[in-house]
Amino acid sequence: KMLEMNISQLEKGGFPHFMLKEIYEQPRTIIDCIRGRINPEGTDVILSGVRDHQDKFLKAGRIIIVACGTSWHAGLIGEHLIEELCRIPVEVEYASEFRYRNPVIRPNDIVITLSQSGETADTLAAVELARNSGAFIYGICNVIGSSIARATDSGSYIHVGPEIGVASTKAFTGQVTVLIMLALSVAKLKKSISPELYTTMLHDLQQIPQLMERVLKLDTEICDLAKIFTYAHNFIYLGRGYNYPVALEGALKLKEISYIHAEGYPAAEMKHGPIALIDSEMPVVAIATADSVYEKTISNIQEIKARRGKVIAIVTEGNEDVRKMVDYVIEIPRVDERLIPLVVSLPLQMLAYHIAVNKNRDVDRPRNLAKSVTVE
Ligand code: G6P
Repeated sequence: KMLEMNISQLEKGGFPHFMLKEIYEQPRTIIDCIRGRINPEGTDVILSGVRDHQDKFLKAGRIIIVACGTSWHAGLIGEHLIEELCRIPVEVEYASEFRYRNPVIRPNDIVITLSQSGETADTLAAVELARNSGAFIYGICNVIGSSIARATDSGSYIHVGPEIGVASTKAFTGQVTVLIMLALSVAKLKKSISPELYTTMLHDLQQIPQLMERVLKLDTEICDLAKIFTYAHNFIYLGRGYNYPVALEGALKLKEISYIHAEGYPAAEMKHGPIALIDSEMPVVAIATADSVYEKTISNIQEIKARRGKVIAIVTEGNEDVRKMVDYVIEIPRVDERLIPLVVSLPLQMLAYHIAVNKNRDVDRPRNLAKSVTVE
């Protein structure tokens, strides 16, 4: 028993849980993910899976992204990236819905599937369905040689190493990183991105590991914040644009491991219903970073404050305006708006983690959940 304990501690590398270890690994896993895909000068990015099938991407009529859970959230970020940078229409589907609704898939569509485990039954079934339509299928997986990796025509591994915690953390940021590299690769081929934006994004992408290191230093601050909210019964997470899927993912993390009811919502959609839930007992995590929808998000925060909601805002460092408006502020470093999800996800993972620990939850193995859902 003693020996078993020590082995398990050793595996966790000194961390109390795999989840925390995996959160802290992210600066390293992003380096592993981009390694070999960006040239030594740091001026060019290409995924071999895209390079080897350029024609498919150049003539793609549409991209359909299919996934489940956290991978589906990464897919929503992929939709923004690919539509904005590559000007290819994108749809994002839950694999479990897609497989049973006789979807229209054309031979010049590309189906991108995201799966950490590469074994999710619904996602695998969606891939098989798509294969019969003649579409080109691109897999973004973590587990090498997994069923989905083998069933796809091409793809990219995220290379983040084994993820043990049931709640996905480093796989999510790895998936987003691959989607960023994919969008940049395709956009360059299609000449649909300006050289300036290409350079900025590529530069900022290489800064991400350092920026993540800085964000991880917020741990004590977030741990203190978690104490204040441990006994909340509900949570709302708000974001817009690239941060809307991040809000969904932040809420999912909290639900999964703390069992607190949480909802992610596009900030402006609140007024069409959920704002009725807001009172002084309702914590709201609002992502209000420096991006193209910042001003809009601020007015959404004011709507929440006017109803006495307790707002925790995540802002870009140096922002003093939001501090005057809300209850608590978490500052993250400035980065190109399209890369913000990679940075802003970390404080949300840490917040969920600390709340779950305070509640004595089984963080790495939450009740009712499985790491890999191989049955439908
Ligand atoms: C399970 C896990 C989730 C994961 C989802 C999809 O529900 O608990 O964390 O996001 O499956 O898994 P996949 O391996 O396909 O990414």
